[in-house]
Amino acid sequence: MTRKKNCCAQCEGIEQTFNEEAADEDLRFYRLEGLDQTTEWLVDEIKAQGVDGATLLDIGGGVGMIQHELLKDGAASAVHVDASSAYIEAAQREAKRRKLREKIEWRHGNFVDIAKELSPADIVTLDKVICCYDDMPSLVKSSAKLARRFYGIVTPRDIWYLRWGAKVMNLFQALFQNPYRMFVHPIEDIEKYIKKAGLKRTFMKQDAMWRVAVYSRA
Ligand SMILES: C[S@@+](CC[C@H](N)C(=O)[O-])C[C@H]1O[C@@H](n2cnc3c(N)ncnc32)[C@H](O)[C@@H]1O
Repeated sequence: MTRKKNCCAQCEGIEQTFNEEAADEDLRFYRLEGLDQTTEWLVDEIKAQGVDGATLLDIGGGVGMIQHELLKDGAASAVHVDASSAYIEAAQREAKRRKLREKIEWRHGNFVDIAKELSPADIVTLDKVICCYDDMPSLVKSSAKLARRFYGIVTPRDIWYLRWGAKVMNLFQALFQNPYRMFVHPIEDIEKYIKKAGLKRTFMKQDAMWRVAVYSRA
């Protein structure tokens, strides 16, 4: 695993929030229950398009659910970039258990800081990641241009109760002196950058909280 180069207050907050305890809990859930509903929608849609021999760039991959599922279904290799060292370690543990270590490269750090060092991939995914980062334009622009075929994202719905929920959560974060903040970025802004990168929406499904979307290169 390559270690991170740069950091910011939000990345310090990510390390505090997505810590060992949270990673262990997420990994335990994944082993017991499999994918959560919205990740399953994203993975099923990508699989339906065909992943045989494809390369994956999983940004903020957490415990590695997407990469493990797509590699199991025939994807050739994956790069997992994550700002949380605890999640990278949990994902590595799971990859070892599934005998997938040889097919995955792990990069610890803020994706925006290391994007220029990464090669394009057939599939790029950000599952519940854009809401963890303040500089949405840089994150979306630098990731969308690396997607050769598909770009899949899961974002909070841009709706009043989630905007208020984020404000309340951020207030508690400030009270507990954790620099991590959650963001409900406007979906039209996110899609403006995705469209500019030459991608077109081909799938969308949502529940009360999350919006799952897949974009394809024409
Ligand atoms: C809410 S978790 C989602 C994890 C996983 N994708 C899932 O759906 O279970 C957000 C993940 O994104 C990572 N993350 C957030 N912003 C990031 C950034 N700028 N660069 C790299 N990783 C980031 C966090 O470290 C964390 O692992």
